[in-house]
Order: sequence, then C-alpha cells, then structure tokens
Amino acid sequence: MAASALSAIPVPAGASSGFRLSKEHFALAVPVALAAAAGGFLVGLYVSGRTCKKGRVNTFVSKDSPKVVHSFDMEDIGTKAVYCRCWRSKKFPYCDGAHAKHNEETGDNVGPLIIKKKDA
Ligand code: FES
Repeated sequence: MAASALSAIPVPAGASSGFRLSKEHFALAVPVALAAAAGGFLVGLYVSGRTCKKGRVNTFVSKDSPKVVHSFDMEDIGTKAVYCRCWRSKKFPYCDGAHAKHNEETGDNVGPLIIKKKDA
C-alpha cells in the first residue's frame, strides 16, 4: 500500500537517477551534520539530567518537604553525635550503619559525620 502511494507522487525527470553531492557541498554538509548531531546529543544530556531522578541522593527522607534541614543546639548534642551523610539511615539524620551496605553495593565510600567533645 505504501509503495503504491509513493508511486503516485510525481517525480521530476532525472531525479530518480541518483543523488549527487559536489565536493564543496559535501565539505559543508559533513560539519553541519556533525554539529547537529553534537547539538542533539548535548540537548539530550541536558534534558535527561534535568528530568532523571536516579541521581537523587535522598530516596526516602521527608520526601514531602521541599528541603530537608535538621538543626541541633550544641548543648543538646552531648559528648558525641554521629550524623548520616549517605541518606540511607532509617534513623536519619543519625547514622545507623546503613552506609556500609550502600558502599558495598555501589562502590562508594561515604561515612558519617562524627561530632564529639575533645575529651569524649
Ligand atoms: Fe548514612 Fe551511616 S547510615 S552515614
């Protein structure tokens, strides 16, 4: 059906003898095609980077909040506090050791932030 539809299109005489490109046109077409391909590739990278959610570090902590912030008074910390930096702790913002599994699975090397008094 498609072939019969195409055969109905009038073709100018000589057009079916082949497509010829002069050296000058070819020298111009190649860089234009390469630039268009590179531009398309870069646009694709930009768009996928803006929409891809795989790169998110926070997978479950307070996802209904536009920003996760925790604040502590120094007096309330006590002698030692261990805070999660891998975003995998079920006790976030405190470290529960989940970083070890994350590191094993991903090859990452994240660990907690430990704040302690000098003599603790
Ligand atoms: Fe996240 Fe330990 S669980 S740093």
